[in-house]
Amino acid sequence: MPRERSGGILRRDLARAGSFPAKLRSGAAVCASPLSGKWQTATSTLVPLTVVFWSLQMTYVVTDNCIRCKYMDCVEVCPVDCFYEGENMLVIHPDECIDCGVCEPECPAEAIKPDTEPGLDQWLQLNAEYSEKWPNISTKGDAPADAKDMDGVPDKFAKFFSPEPGEGD
Ligand code: SF4
Ligand code: F3S
Repeated sequence: MPRERSGGILRRDLARAGSFPAKLRSGAAVCASPLSGKWQTATSTLVPLTVVFWSLQMTYVVTDNCIRCKYMDCVEVCPVDCFYEGENMLVIHPDECIDCGVCEPECPAEAIKPDTEPGLDQWLQLNAEYSEKWPNISTKGDAPADAKDMDGVPDKFAKFFSPEPGEGD
């Protein structure tokens, strides 16, 4: 299904509010007035038609295991450069991600997930929040020296998350 760019702001805001199911975070109202053609002939008065629909959209999100692994293989393959750099992890801007999925298999830490997976609301909110605060990054840098040792360490967010920005490009 084509991505509805117009729904981005609503999705981000609702994600922050944490009040909607993952598949319904983005919506759009479309109004159409059928003024011509057979439809008008068939009706003697103007009948505005309002169709409200919720589009089923998704984004990818960076999750817990990125913290202090920060391999950055992901930024090299993203066609729209929608990664943002924190001190010890990256996030994806949910309104810029075009849902192509190419970054997911590139992450050695398997930290990138589609937000359609259950239980990722916290990570969608974190990606949305910090992609507005941290600088953009599109060039791969060096991973931390202890990245392999940190791979798979549980509860990284509670132990190691840093709200400080990275350097970006
Ligand atoms: Fe970029 Fe595609 Fe990954 Fe989204 S899914 S962050 S557009 S590579
Ligand atoms: Fe993080 Fe994986 Fe990218 S560890 S920096 S999401 S390649």
